Order: sequence, then C-alpha cells, then structure tokens
Amino acid sequence: MNNPILQRLNADHKHIAKVMYCLRAQIKGFDDPDMEPNISQIMDILDFISTFPERWHHPVEDVVFRKLMEKNPPHPEQIRAVLREHEDLERITQELKTAFERVAMDIAVPIAHLYKTTTIYLSRQMLHLDAEESVLFPLVEDYLEEDDWADVEEEVDRVFGDPDDLAKQEYDHLLSSILNFDAHFSSTD
Ligand SMILES: [Fe+2]
Ligand SMILES: [Fe+2]
Repeated sequence: MNNPILQRLNADHKHIAKVMYCLRAQIKGFDDPDMEPNISQIMDILDFISTFPERWHHPVEDVVFRKLMEKNPPHPEQIRAVLREHEDLERITQELKTAFERVAMDIAVPIAHLYKTTTIYLSRQMLHLDAEESVLFPLVEDYLEEDDWADVEEEVDRVFGDPDDLAKQEYDHLLSSILNFDAHFSSTD
C-alpha cells in the first residue's frame, strides 16, 4: 500500500478499531457484576467515534471511492453500499451517543437493551472496516493511477483545508487519552 492517502486511511482504521475494542471492554461492565463501566471513558470514546470518522475519515474515503467508481471496477454494488453505510454509521453513532448521554445523566435507560444495541453497533463498524480493507482498498490500489491520485489529492486538500486544524489536534489528543486509559484499565484488570 504505497499511496500516502491509502496509508493514512489504513492507519485511521487501526485507531478506529482500537477505540472500538475499548468500547467493547467498557460495555462488558454492563453485563458483568464484578466490573464497573467507566461512563466518562465511554463518553470520550463516543465523542471520538462520532466526530473523527465523520470529519476526517469518511470524507476522504468518499472522494477515493467515488473516483474508484469512475473506473468501472468490479463489485460496484458493494462499493455503493459502503458509501451509503457512512451515513448510516454516522446516524447510529449519534443515536448511541444520545443513549449513553442519558445513562451519564442518570436517566433510566434499559441497560440490557443498550448493551445489545452497542454489541450490534460494534459488529457493524468492524464489518465496515473489514469490507473496506479486504475489498475496496485493494480495488483502489489496482484501479487508481497517478492522474487519479492527483485528482483525489486535490479534492482531499479541499476537504481537509488547514492540515494544522486545531480541532483535529484535539481529537488526536483524545485518541491518545482513550488508548492510554485503556492500557491502564487492561493492566489493572
Ligand atoms: Fe468507511
Ligand atoms: Fe474506513
């Protein structure tokens, strides 16, 4: 995977997957009487996964995958489905965030239902990452040529604007703090 944009998308996936594992570890607390879920860690995780993909990951993938569609690749239906899924994932992430905000505010929420919803959500997110890594990214690598990448880069620059975006730095810090908390949480578990 030589292209820097594709490398960055892959690196994003590793971070998103790690944060999903943290969420999975935290929600175990709702199903295990010996474990106390840490609501503030869960809220940090939901803040990250409701913001980072929507602002800095999906928009880049959308540009790359739309360019791929112009090249008449195989599996066009699957590519379109992945593109549509970005909107669905963003919507269900917001719904999950709202549900956990209610837990954080001590509003009665059916926990067993929330646990199940979160588990389904995690599988859906992981399947999405898997589909992109196993089908779409390899197609992108095969079908996009130098000129296509130049177009993609130009459009991505427009999407991203200032590379020193302060909000982006804030979310990089949030990612580190989520992963550091989890490392500590796992080592004391
Ligand atoms: Fe995606
Ligand atoms: Fe992705």
